[in-house]
Amino acid sequence: MPASAGSVVQGMTVRRRDAVNRTVFILNGPNLNLLGQREPETYGRTTLADIEAACREKAAALGLAVDFRQKNGEGELVSDIHDAISARAGGIIINAGAYTHTSIAVHDALRAFPGRIIEVHLSNTFARESFRHHSHISPVADGIIAGLGMQGYLLALQAMASLFEEAA
Ligand code: DQA
Repeated sequence: MPASAGSVVQGMTVRRRDAVNRTVFILNGPNLNLLGQREPETYGRTTLADIEAACREKAAALGLAVDFRQKNGEGELVSDIHDAISARAGGIIINAGAYTHTSIAVHDALRAFPGRIIEVHLSNTFARESFRHHSHISPVADGIIAGLGMQGYLLALQAMASLFEEAA
């Protein structure tokens, strides 16, 4: 039997479908709590609460559970990734804010996460200052979505559900 079809334990076929934990941690980094008031010409008027509500609605429609968080501290964001590892979450969607461009600690924590990772940015970081062109998250991400505002989070959830189906 090919490995992808599952394994046989005491005569029963254990399908990998059962092993995919459909909980997705949606992690937000520094200053994203200020969305709606912060640089609206770049980030729009949508608040983080709006994004959370839209994500919860989308996740429910996709049969995903969501743990939605925002932290300003680098260590706190690392701890949230550790929580996703402990919870055996199937995926992390992360907008690490400015830590995207600076944090090897966040990179290392994500590297320790065995599930799927999607990096999201509200703005198109490649159309902005050059210091935003490098990401420490991208090398450990399955995919990247930037420049589509809140829609990027919802597309990431959609993609996460598809990745889970592929793995099943
Ligand atoms: C951001 C882009 C980062 O460069 C910036 O530091 C942010 C937000 C985005 O969502 O577009 O805080 O991650």
